[in-house]
Amino acid sequence: MRSKILDLLREAGDSYLSGEEMAKRLGVSRTAVWKHIQELRRDGYDIVSHSRSGYSLQSAPDTLRPEEIKNGLRTRRIGREIRFYPTVDSTNLEAKRLAQQGAPDGLIVVAEEQGKGRGRLERSFFSPAGKGIWFSVILRPDFLPQEAPKCTLLSAVAVAQAAEDFGMKVGIKWPNDVLADGRKLVGILTEMSAEMERIHYVIIGTGINVNIAEEDFPEDLRDKATSLSQLKGEEIPRVAFFRAVLEHMDALYDSILREGFAEVFSMWRRYSITLGQMVRVIDARGGKDAFTGRAVDIDEDGALLVDTAEGRRRVLAGDVSIRPQQD
Ligand code: BTN
Repeated sequence: MRSKILDLLREAGDSYLSGEEMAKRLGVSRTAVWKHIQELRRDGYDIVSHSRSGYSLQSAPDTLRPEEIKNGLRTRRIGREIRFYPTVDSTNLEAKRLAQQGAPDGLIVVAEEQGKGRGRLERSFFSPAGKGIWFSVILRPDFLPQEAPKCTLLSAVAVAQAAEDFGMKVGIKWPNDVLADGRKLVGILTEMSAEMERIHYVIIGTGINVNIAEEDFPEDLRDKATSLSQLKGEEIPRVAFFRAVLEHMDALYDSILREGFAEVFSMWRRYSITLGQMVRVIDARGGKDAFTGRAVDIDEDGALLVDTAEGRRRVLAGDVSIRPQQD
């Protein structure tokens, strides 16, 4: 009902719409309409009223509520269904619970705040209220489980494209850290449930630092993390940015389902700050096999190809640090 009232007010534009007219169009009482208007005002919508002519929407808050995100969202799959939480333990955990109950392909879980934001390798992820976009997408693609890790690249590319739309330049460090000025802007955690031959679901959890000032980060993150507002030097409208990310994700997911990962790979290469650089690779087992070489490309599995003095190495998982150029 809330979103229908908002739709009517938005349709009316600058004109006023009477409570009676809205009640008639929505098939509810005028009191019901009035109650919803009060609730919307409490949530930060600026709705002015005029005793004769009715209500008019002046402005909407920048909250990640479904009715805001869906307003003008052009996607086929991603975000057609949205679950919003003012606060949640972790959007990945909630997405997992919903996926186990049969949630559809493309459903997204988004929260204003996470109490237990999760990072890779059992780390925690800083997710303060109202300052970022913390969300997870449930995908149910019809391909083999070994293809799933490549889905992570989709999110990194979509955020890089959205940043470009908003006039910012960011880079992707293999496999999926989005960086600006050498500091981390976005974290991505992909999880999956599958049998040998079939994916049940993939969950891509993405945390975008949007309006976080340097001093808002815990001290140990200050020199490692940054945000879009720090990069641009001004506040970024979260809803509009999120819509751009979802639209890019949707287009990339569509191309994956139709033609495979070629488009995602070519976009990933465009934003990569790893390729062409000397890198130090510490393998996923924790440093037993560390080596240095030049990162030359990614292959069809999304593995990083690194040329070392002993020949070419293929890195499927691990931590990569970019070494400062010597020459
Ligand atoms: C990392 O960089 O280690 C990955 C961080 C992933 C954070 C996001 S925020 C939304 C989603 N929910 C979580 O609990 N984690 C991911």
